[in-house]
Amino acid sequence: MRKLIGKNILVTGGTGFIGSHLCERLVKLGANLTILDNSFRSSKRNIESILDKVELVEADVRNFDIIKKSTKDKDIVIHLAAIQGTQNFYDYPDLVLDVGVTGTLNIVKSVVENKIKHLLVASSSEAYSTPQYFPTPETHPLIIPDPANPRFSYSSTKIISEMLTIHFAKKKGFDYTIFRPHNVYGPRLGWKHIVPEFIKRIVLNEEFTIQGDGSQTRSFCYIDDGIDQLILYLTKDKAKNQIFNLGNQKESTVNDIIRHLEEICGRKLNPKYVELPAGGTTRRNPDMVKAEQILDYEPKVGIKEGLKRTYDWYKKEIEYWLKNAKSEEYPWNLRR
Ligand SMILES: NC(=O)c1ccc[n+]([C@@H]2O[C@H](COP(=O)([O-])OP(=O)(O)OC[C@H]3O[C@@H](n4cnc5c(N)ncnc54)[C@H](O)[C@@H]3O)[C@@H](O)[C@H]2O)c1
Repeated sequence: MRKLIGKNILVTGGTGFIGSHLCERLVKLGANLTILDNSFRSSKRNIESILDKVELVEADVRNFDIIKKSTKDKDIVIHLAAIQGTQNFYDYPDLVLDVGVTGTLNIVKSVVENKIKHLLVASSSEAYSTPQYFPTPETHPLIIPDPANPRFSYSSTKIISEMLTIHFAKKKGFDYTIFRPHNVYGPRLGWKHIVPEFIKRIVLNEEFTIQGDGSQTRSFCYIDDGIDQLILYLTKDKAKNQIFNLGNQKESTVNDIIRHLEEICGRKLNPKYVELPAGGTTRRNPDMVKAEQILDYEPKVGIKEGLKRTYDWYKKEIEYWLKNAKSEEYPWNLRR
């Protein structure tokens, strides 16, 4: 880990969920950080513990001049800025595409112009669309099932981002690492995800409906494990010019999650099962063999422990908002 002491690193999307946890870890490891974010889906509050130790650029990743300036004199660039959230894919597919494509194009061009040595780019499990086999290895085809469906605005930007990264790197001589996160969760994840949504319903005593019969699975990866994997990309030469699934191969059903949460909150949740809407995938399971073999990566936080830590954080967060804001300001009521 001494490798990162004094390294100059730019993190785009650095006040978001993964970004804020990564930046906290990088500061601990002695890196000099510049964080760039326009707070589209995050807030400075996420990085308050390190605000006095980093440079924060409040800007849009689509602004080439700012990206060129911010990448200058960096050793490593980590590109996380993107518009996540299924509702956003439907509401603003044009914006999702613009930020995803223009943002990554600005990054790769600036990396070339400023002669940066290593670029890390966040892709997504969504690039596999509905996987054809499980566990899903990095060699699985990337698919855009229907370009007319706004749902695929986000995943298509991830596929284009991978292409831009790989081919600019090959032609222009920098190293890259691309990673495809699978259901990373933990404190600061936001509110439009299954785990915070369930916790919110428990804390606020809301009705507990489940889409489908609860047998659909996800492979949840606790944020600290995800950050461990990201740090391996930065410190192991073998990670260069590779694509990795980022996640945890262990699967949980939605019903498993409910059972664990019942244990954590100490009461029965009695979920009501309703019909699963068409279009969503019912299973995601990353094949983690490549990360295990090349990086010696091994997740450490089990689902029960991860859920407990996440529950405790969200409970406090909800109590904070209930005490300090009006209901229209509660973050869980905001559309994006
Ligand atoms: N969390 C996961 O499980 C997961 C899964 C798949 C892919 N990813 C990818 O990993 C990366 C980080 O994800 P996350 O979970 O932290 O999401 P996040 O939404 O918390 O973080 C993304 C950040 O990008 C910022 N952003 C959006 N538009 C911007 C713009 N135009 N200019 C500058 N900043 C902008 C947002 O404000 C936010 O802080 C993203 O690229 C995401 O697509 C994450």
